[in-house]
This record gives sequence, C-alpha cells and structure tokens, in this order.
Amino acid sequence: MRIPARQHRGSDDPADRDWVQRFIAGNLPALPVPGIPDIYLHRAGPQSGLRRLAQRDPEFGSPYWAHYWSGGLVLARYLLDRPESVAGRQVLDLGAGSGIVGIAAAKAGATKVCATDIDPYAILATELNARLNNVMIEAMPADLTKGEPPDVDLICVGDLFYEAALAESVIAFLDRCLAHGVAILIGDPWRTYLPKSRLRLLAEYAVSDFGEDAARTQSAGVFAFE
Ligand SMILES: C[S@@+](CC[C@H](N)C(=O)[O-])C[C@H]1O[C@@H](n2cnc3c(N)ncnc32)[C@H](O)[C@@H]1O
Repeated sequence: MRIPARQHRGSDDPADRDWVQRFIAGNLPALPVPGIPDIYLHRAGPQSGLRRLAQRDPEFGSPYWAHYWSGGLVLARYLLDRPESVAGRQVLDLGAGSGIVGIAAAKAGATKVCATDIDPYAILATELNARLNNVMIEAMPADLTKGEPPDVDLICVGDLFYEAALAESVIAFLDRCLAHGVAILIGDPWRTYLPKSRLRLLAEYAVSDFGEDAARTQSAGVFAFE
C-alpha cells in the first residue's frame, strides 16, 4: 500500500519507542471496549500517570490515543456488524488514535490495514493495541490531509470533525480521495463541524462519549461521504 506525504515528528530512537510502549502496556490496563467485547484497548485511568510521559517530552500533546472516541467506537461496531463493507479491501484508518477502527477493519477481513495519525504516541498505541488484538496494522505518523489520495480502497474516519480547521482540511482531502475512486466511511457523534450535507446515514448507535459517564449515552452515526 503506497501512502504519500509521509511525515515524521518526535524521536525515531527505538529505545525510546520501546520505553513508551512498555509504559503504555504497564500503566494503561487492557480493557474490552463497551459493546465490542472482542476488542481490547490499553486505556488510561486515574492511576495511569500519563503526566510522567508529558514530563519527559515537551511535544507531548493531548493523549487522544489513550481512549476510544464515540465516532471510532460506532465505526468499529459497524465494520464488525457488516464485514462485507470492508472484507477484501485495503483500508486506511485516518486519525487512528488508539487504532480502534483499524483493528475492527482487520478483524472484519480487510486484506491490509494502514493507520496514520499526526501524534507519534498514537502510532505507538495503535501498534501495541494491534498486537493485543492479534491483528496486523501498518501504522505511521503522518498528516495525509495535505497530500494526494493514498492507494487504498476505503478510508475510515473516526471522530475527526471536532475542530473547524481540521474539518476543513479533512473534507478537502476526502473530496480528492472520492474523485480518485476511494470509498469513505465516517463515524461521528454529530460534532459541530461534521459535513452533514455530504453524508448518507448508514447506521446509528447510542453510545457514551469519551469522558462521559458510561450510563449517559448519545447518538452517534456511521455515514458514507458522497
Ligand atoms: C478524537 S481522536 C479520534 C481517534 C480515533 N479515530 C477514535 O475514534 O477513537 C482524533 C485523532 O486524530 C488525530 N489527528 C488530528 N489531526 C490529524 C491529521 N491531520 N491527520 C491525522 N490524524 C490527525 C489526533 O491526533 C487524534 O489521535
């Protein structure tokens, strides 16, 4: 699978990568995902001490990768409920975070799964979570949104419409991919910058969002971008 516009940030030092992955494995317990008991993710809790990671790296950002988000959660459920949507296809999980969507795609029968994220910690978490779930994912730190369409059949986008500027560049990128014949699925809890007029609703689920009480649910949809 050819992914253009590969970019790196952060250390490529293998010892550092190993240290971070040992930290995640040792301090973020592997827990099943609500509604998807087949997928386990390393998830941050009160005892995880993520501050220790932040203290050793001035570039440490918001640890979005330490949780699943409701957009990714519903998209993962959709792929597992309807494996025909992904089986036999080459898939990109754009903005992978923990890797939840890519893991579901691999479990549902995708021939190859690639995951990208601008946060190098998300890439390390995705690699670790892929191993935890016994699936293969090629994960790389990259911002593909400024570049050409990647050589894949399907792009899965879990919860990427939470900021105006990000949404604008993701939509422009998805438009280029669509023109190139790439199919696009989006999972999102109706966030502010979701391009609703471009979407066809495929499924809707009641789920709890990251940071919310598990008993408090909201609607999140899976959409085709057209
Ligand atoms: C809200 S989280 C969603 C993570 C995951 N898809 C999920 O649904 O659980 C958004 C993720 O997108 C990543 N991200 C933000 N801008 C990006 C970009 N331009 N390219 C790739 N990833 C990006 C963030 O680092 C973060 O991991």
